[in-house]
Amino acid sequence: MQRNTDSIKVVKIERVIEETPTVRTLIFSDELLARVMPGQFAMVWIPGVNELPMSVMVTREKDKAAFTVRKHGPSSTALFSLKVGEEIGVRGPYGNSFTIKQGKLLLVGGGTGLVPLMRLSTLLEKSDEVTILMGAKTREEVFFEKLANDILAQNKRKVVVVTEDGTYGERGLVTDVMARLLNESIFDAVYTCGPEKMMYRVVQLASEKKTFVEASIERMMKCGMGLCGSCCFGDVLACKDGTVFNGQYLLTNKEFGQTHRTKSGILENY
Ligand SMILES: Cc1cc2nc3c(=O)[nH]c(=O)nc-3n(C[C@H](O)[C@H](O)[C@H](O)COP(=O)(O)OP(=O)(O)OC[C@H]3O[C@@H](n4cnc5c(N)ncnc54)[C@H](O)[C@@H]3O)c2cc1C
Ligand code: FES
Repeated sequence: MQRNTDSIKVVKIERVIEETPTVRTLIFSDELLARVMPGQFAMVWIPGVNELPMSVMVTREKDKAAFTVRKHGPSSTALFSLKVGEEIGVRGPYGNSFTIKQGKLLLVGGGTGLVPLMRLSTLLEKSDEVTILMGAKTREEVFFEKLANDILAQNKRKVVVVTEDGTYGERGLVTDVMARLLNESIFDAVYTCGPEKMMYRVVQLASEKKTFVEASIERMMKCGMGLCGSCCFGDVLACKDGTVFNGQYLLTNKEFGQTHRTKSGILENY
């Protein structure tokens, strides 16, 4: 019998992929999470530590799902450090998803923000022409380049890595490369997930060209299901009304790219 979305299911880590020195993908079995839409997330209970929201990473194995976690503070470090055979609790999926368009598509991601974009890539039509811009600070933080090429093997595609220090791929910011691409061609849709300052610029650039754009945003999440209010983002809830919002709405939300709430609910500048 399939589990209920809101009940916690304990799953075992079956495989761990070392993506970079600070990023790992943890693979486990769960039929529901294996089929989420891009932009949806799960709440992940790390026993004795905390519960964190995580985008659900795609795997190429039936009924298996994954989380790609960056080692950061105490909770993500605990998740990152789990070994094969250890257990976590999962509930969800929660939230909405990207609107899948067809044609010439531009995906712009940074860090673990690439997770929903990888899932989105698996759902695109073979006839779509896809450009993915992957941002990282430096060479050793680059991951998913080969995966993106594998997923889109049958598409006309460009997978462009952009590092801030120029140690791999193009040098600079993904948004600089995006600005150049938008001057060279017309895209049917732009999708973005990553640091909010980056997404703010992506939405601005696409909107200037009147191109359809959606961004998946992060806010502090506790319940993940629209009850506690900790993820409020202007007049909406990131967990329930998002995580995906369209550019037209985002440019009217005064918090987008400017402020977010801390764990105690205080509004803080980015
Ligand atoms: C929808 C969504 C999807 C996410 N997907 C991923 C992912 O695929 N991979 C990944 O590595 N991280 C993801 N995150 C971020 C992740 O949930 C944690 O915020 C991050 O791992 C840092 O947690 P920490 O407790 O280790 O850090 P801490 O040092 O305790 O906190 C550092 C910062 O992380 C953020 N944070 C901490 N706890 C939460 C929380 N409960 N909800 C939201 N933000 C929080 C806050 O901005 C905080 O200031 C996602 C967040 C959201 C909201
Ligand atoms: S996390 Fe509780 S309302 Fe969104």
